[in-house]
Amino acid sequence: MSSPKPKTRNPEPSKLRVAILISGRGSNMHALLRGCAGEIPDIEIDQAKIALVLSNIADAPGLEIAKQYKVKTEILPHKGYKDRREYDAKITEILRANKIDLVCLAGFMRLLSAEFCETWKNKLINIHPSLLPNHKGLDTHKRALAAGDAHHGCTVHFVTAEMDEGPIILQQSVPVLPDDDEQTLAARVLAAEHRCYPMALKLLSEGRIQMTGNKVVVNS
Ligand code: GRF
Repeated sequence: MSSPKPKTRNPEPSKLRVAILISGRGSNMHALLRGCAGEIPDIEIDQAKIALVLSNIADAPGLEIAKQYKVKTEILPHKGYKDRREYDAKITEILRANKIDLVCLAGFMRLLSAEFCETWKNKLINIHPSLLPNHKGLDTHKRALAAGDAHHGCTVHFVTAEMDEGPIILQQSVPVLPDDDEQTLAARVLAAEHRCYPMALKLLSEGRIQMTGNKVVVNS
């Protein structure tokens, strides 16, 4: 008589399945991929898997980087849809087909419909190049310089229907130096983005970010 089989256990609890939406160079997407590949020494993301990179622009340079990391890519041009809602519903269809748990916007240059934000409530995050609530919208570095800010930086936040308004998950500040111009300041902020976004994904994937009402609580 054969002995009973030992109970099998999943050796690795299932990882958070992440999609990244891009439109351009994809340097933040690259930072998330590097984090998941263990390429950022002190920010190893081992509880998330980048399962999909979706671009609305067919020749977005970021798509080539995603392919180097052997990540599935999809191109979904936004032209030809009746309205924003219809296009966004198509994105949701693709995300569902890929069993996506969390969506990271990384330079996705489209406003998203209220319906999309509601469907992905608390599962949709963005990185913005300013210390929100300062400098919502575009040209953040120029505006930080014009305002004479001593500090500037980046913010990872949940996305709601109101632009750059959602609950803040993590921020990283950088100094504004006396001889900064838009380019030098942008480069300093971008380097901060490339640490802040992977760190936020790490915290989320480890279940260390909780929403209490409309507030984000980070557990150490
Ligand atoms: C970044 O500055 C990000 O903060 C903003 O769009 C830019 C995207 O750059 N949302 P990249 O494509 O990630 O290099």
